[in-house]
Parts: sequence; C-alpha cells; structure tokens
Amino acid sequence: MRITDYSWHDFAALPLDTKSRLLAQSDGAPFHTLFAQQFNREMLDELGTLATEIRTIAKSKTGMKFLQSLLCHKRAMLYFSQPSSRTFLSFLSACQILGLSTGEVRDSATSSEFKGESREDSVRTFSSYFDMIIMRSRQKGLAENMAWSLSNSDRPIPIINAGSGQDQHPTQALLDIYTLQRSFERRGDLRDRTVVFVGDLARGRTIRSLSVLLMAYPNIRQVFIAPPQLQIGEDMLASLDSHGIKYELGDDLRAALPTADAVYMTRIQDEWDSVVGESTRIDTTQFHIGVDEMSLMRPDAVLLHPLPRRTEISVEVDHDPRAVYWRQMRNGMWIRAALIATTFGFGRRIHEYFREDL
Ligand code: CP
Repeated sequence: MRITDYSWHDFAALPLDTKSRLLAQSDGAPFHTLFAQQFNREMLDELGTLATEIRTIAKSKTGMKFLQSLLCHKRAMLYFSQPSSRTFLSFLSACQILGLSTGEVRDSATSSEFKGESREDSVRTFSSYFDMIIMRSRQKGLAENMAWSLSNSDRPIPIINAGSGQDQHPTQALLDIYTLQRSFERRGDLRDRTVVFVGDLARGRTIRSLSVLLMAYPNIRQVFIAPPQLQIGEDMLASLDSHGIKYELGDDLRAALPTADAVYMTRIQDEWDSVVGESTRIDTTQFHIGVDEMSLMRPDAVLLHPLPRRTEISVEVDHDPRAVYWRQMRNGMWIRAALIATTFGFGRRIHEYFREDL
C-alpha cells in the first residue's frame, strides 16, 4: 500500500509505525519528515555520522564548494507561520550549505492567505515553485495533512515538519540526540543514561519528540520534573509503558539533579495559555537552574535547552562547560543539512567525498 491508497481520514487514523513505512523512500530514508517515530537507531546513527562529515567538509573552501554543488538544482520553501529564530535560521543555513535556493513566508498576512486562500491551496502553490517545503505551524497535524495532500497531487514534494502545535518538533529532537551522542561519545555511547526533563512538559513539543527518540537507545531512564499542572501527558506515559521504558514523575528538581547524565530544561510555554496570564498562577520558582543547582549536577553531566530561554537558566550558568545549549543550537544546522541531503538521496555521495577527497 502507498500513501495515495488512503483517504486523508483513513491515513490520519493509521498507527504511527504504519504511517512511518508509508512515508519512507525505497532506501528507508523519510520522504516526508513529520514525527519522531519515523526514526530508528540505525537512522539516527547515520544522520549523526553524516552531520559530522558535513561539518568537517564545510571547514574548507573546496569542501564547501563540493557541498554547495550537491543541491544547487533544488529549491526549498520555508513556510513559518509561527515565530522562530533558530529553527528557521538553521534550516536556511543548512539549505545554503547544500546549495539550495530558498523562498520564505513568515507571516500569512503577506501571502494570499490574507485574501482567504486556504492553507492547502497555499502549500499547493509553494509546491509549484519549490522542491521541498519546510513548515512550522501552530496547528497540530497540519504538516501531516499537507504531506498527504501533496502526495496525492501532481507535485509530490517532501515536507519537513519544523514544529507542529504542541505535538511534535522532530528535527529539534534530531539535534538534541546528535548533541547527546557527541556529549557522551568519549565516555561510551548513549545508553544506560538518565535524562531529566524539566519545566513545561505538558505543552513542550520538543520534549515529546525527544522522549520518543530516546526510546531507540538501550536502558535510558526518563525522569519528568514539573509542576503537577504542567506534567507530561498521559499519552506519552502510555507510549513509554508500551515500549517498556523506565520513567519517573516528580516535582523535586534538587533531588533529581544528582541522578542526571543529562538535564533538558524548557521554558513555560505561555503562548499556549487558554486564558492570558494563566501560567503566571503556577508556581515555577523551583524549576530553575542557577550556579547553586549546577553544583548538584555530576561533573560529567550536561545541561541542554531547546531555547529560547527566559529565566529558567541563569545567564551565569552559560560559562559552565556542562551547559551545552549554545553548541546544541549550532548542531541544528548540521543535522538539518544531513536530513535534507538524506531526503534528496545525497548521503552516500557525501560519505564518499569524506572518505576519498578529504
Ligand atoms: N528550539 C526552537 O524551536 O527555537 P525557535 O522557536 O527559535 O525556532
């Protein structure tokens, strides 16, 4: 069966592993990248290797010329109808590294959506001019719906989900995993670790996608530290249970910190408040990391944050070598370049250049 054999209603109702098979290309790489469940351990290792090779090749002028020649015949549309700094800019940079030309709509008020054009017709329009659409939206499931729609059109180009509602942010999870792989590579790989998630776990799509990817690694214990009102959703716990993953829930950050190999902080996502100011009624003062809290973490632990941050990590912590969030952000550019290259079938060519020409 192919994606085109399903109505939207039937496709949307399929289990994620069935959808993942339908979204894959013949070599197993994703055509559309929509959710974290599409990636297994082998794919994560391959993307990490490719990202590191691209990073190394890009250091020289000759290497950069090679990379920029790979996809100079392709164009990517950056359709970000929800605000973004790093996801937008790292995708833009990733496209530039691989030679893709880009177009963008960052505000629907500047496109014909303002005149009442539907999202579906807008995306169909983009597909007339571009070879890939990278999209962020407030709307859960919009990227998936547009992917199904384009697959059933005469221009079935790939869609990459750059953040969909409160649901998924799969490419953020890819850069988080890449950062964890690199952080632990000198001390063995990403296994037998404790990852402590902190903050607004109910509405953080980065948490949901990373929690899924961590299930691909052996013996990772996931600890969720949040105020009760912002604790991780029941659907995520059901998924962890069904995969036999060890997890714990709590609200005592200071007790959890000494157990962590990695701490993943998040901000309070008040843009999702159903009533303005709703989040300010929740006491979040205990969900903060400053120099004092860092002293509770192991010397070899790492502190991540998808960013942007507000006050949940003090700026003084930036100087601590265990704070890797700025490096994590830059990793996004390399892993997104690896994903785009893989989507267009150029992974092997980059491996060959890395082995033979470098
Ligand atoms: N982490 C992340 O998605 O950041 P932006 O919202 O700035 O893209």
